[in-house]
Amino acid sequence: MKKLLPAMLLLVALSAQADNYRLPKNAAFEEECTSCHMAFPPQMLHADSWRAMMNDLSKHFGTDASLDEKRRVAIADFLVANSGGRKTGTTRDAAGKPLLRITETDRFDKKHREINAATFKRASIKSPANCTACHAQAAAGDYNERSIIIPK
Ligand code: HEC
Ligand code: HEC
Repeated sequence: MKKLLPAMLLLVALSAQADNYRLPKNAAFEEECTSCHMAFPPQMLHADSWRAMMNDLSKHFGTDASLDEKRRVAIADFLVANSGGRKTGTTRDAAGKPLLRITETDRFDKKHREINAATFKRASIKSPANCTACHAQAAAGDYNERSIIIPK
């Protein structure tokens, strides 16, 4: 039991961490990755996904989000260091390529099982990627149930 205790405490610490999407501070990420959309939580994508995205910024979901090399590397390192790992569920598409959207991951599906596709398409929401439509405090990394309001 004495030997088990540290292992158990570690497990408790890890599971407490599992649902933390608080945005770790990073000036470069905030400056470069919040001009077109809110800061997506690094914890909700696998490191492979962030690497793939950061290696192809000139073709970022139909836009050009290119950065100078120093910034690109710094932000990629930050995203990888705070990425979600296996908790995100399936991390690759059928062709074996890393998923690039949080909204394509099993974890996102699981958390949003009770919302149907039509709700996501409402004019007030438009897309599942529009996190702030329902999570009022999402930009600060707060996805708490208490801050959710699904717009009509
Ligand atoms: C020039 C505008 C622009 C910039 C700058 C930009 N993005 Fe995006 N990003 C987009 C667009 C457009 C989409 C697609 C949105 C949609 O489908 O609703 C997107 C989607 C995403 C998604 C997928 C969301 C989902 O799950 O569907 C992630 C993750 C993302 N961006 C991360 C980043 C990161 C990290 C940076 C900084 C390196 C960044 N973006 C900078 C325009 C931008
Ligand atoms: C149509 C409204 C809507 C949109 C858009 C939406 N969510 Fe949610 N989200 C919800 C609801 C409702 C829940 C479930 C709350 C519950 O049952 O505990 C939820 C749950 C979550 C949770 C779980 C919170 C926890 O305590 O475990 C996370 C994380 C989350 N959403 C992240 C996101 C992210 C990131 C985006 C954008 C990429 C997003 N959501 C888009 C409505 C939405």
